[in-house]
Amino acid sequence: MVSFQGEDFAVGFVGGIAFTLILAGIASVTVLRMTDRYGLGHWKLNIGTPLKSMWMNVGYWKNEQGEPVQDFEEACLGLLKEVVKASGILDKDATKDTPPRSLAILDLGFGCGDQTWELARLAQQGGYLDFQYVGLTLNEAQVQSAQRRIYREVAGADACELKTDSFKMFCANAAKPETWSPQVTEAVESLADEKFTGTWLLALDCLYHFSPSRKPVFKYAANKLDAQVMVFDLLLNETASMRDTLIVRAVGVMMGCPVRTFLTETAYKDQLVECGYDRRSIKIHDITGDVFSGLVKFLDRQDKALGEYGISLGGFKLAQRLFDWFARSKVVRAVTVVAHTKGKSS
Ligand SMILES: *[C@@H]1O[C@H](CO)[C@@H](O)[C@H](O)[C@H]1NC(C)=O
Repeated sequence: MVSFQGEDFAVGFVGGIAFTLILAGIASVTVLRMTDRYGLGHWKLNIGTPLKSMWMNVGYWKNEQGEPVQDFEEACLGLLKEVVKASGILDKDATKDTPPRSLAILDLGFGCGDQTWELARLAQQGGYLDFQYVGLTLNEAQVQSAQRRIYREVAGADACELKTDSFKMFCANAAKPETWSPQVTEAVESLADEKFTGTWLLALDCLYHFSPSRKPVFKYAANKLDAQVMVFDLLLNETASMRDTLIVRAVGVMMGCPVRTFLTETAYKDQLVECGYDRRSIKIHDITGDVFSGLVKFLDRQDKALGEYGISLGGFKLAQRLFDWFARSKVVRAVTVVAHTKGKSS
């Protein structure tokens, strides 16, 4: 009886495997048939990798000559340059007859390496001999992608003073410093070393996602690092109607942001002061006119261009509508913010 049952089992087992293989075969043939050999699906085989860039921010759609920018990469880099320009770290006066300068940056929500690398290059061109960078992101795939990019760039650049150990990138929740691992905390705190002529907190187009709020990391930066702030952020227009304010709050919640994430300019300044920044040092510069409308036009062009290959922009189309509403209603303001701690502003 026992052996008979065993045979039964073996037959069932082999039969099961055979059945699975047949099903898999049918599925593969179906997929192969469905793949339209004479369509446009082979665009995937025709794009060069690694991709030239993997930027992701709303962009600054005006170049240094004041002309409109057409290209996403250029606009994203432009936004980084606007924030860096506002901070004054590259001002020529500051580079005069000083001992070799060194710059420490804590970059929150840093992306896939483009921002990291461009910032390092700007610092190098600006006369900084030493550059130390710590980036935090919530996404492990972005850490990997950024690390690959930095290794490639450092290896490929000739006469490059930048070394890979100048860059430390981690997967960590930048909004909650108390959750950082000892390794992350140690790397971040190393940026407060007195040898640096400047320690800065950078956040490009991500702070409104910070939950519960921006406060924990601002407090940490001011008190633990004595770090100055340079960010791109979105503010609520103080004269926006009740209706628009409610809509924009709802949109924020749908994007996964805290309900009160969009603050008026006054509330934003109060928050920075509460966290340890000097009120007189806070500089808020409105760049709304060079952000949303340019992005909307670009998304439109990109949608048409990709459409020729049968590729859809997908979720970015919804984003386009949203930015279009931002541009027309002026309910949200795009700004650069710079703030200094009490120790450094005098
Ligand atoms: C705020 O909104 C009002 C009304 O929509 C608009 O006229 C004004 O220009 C906006 N202010 C800013 C600073 O964007």
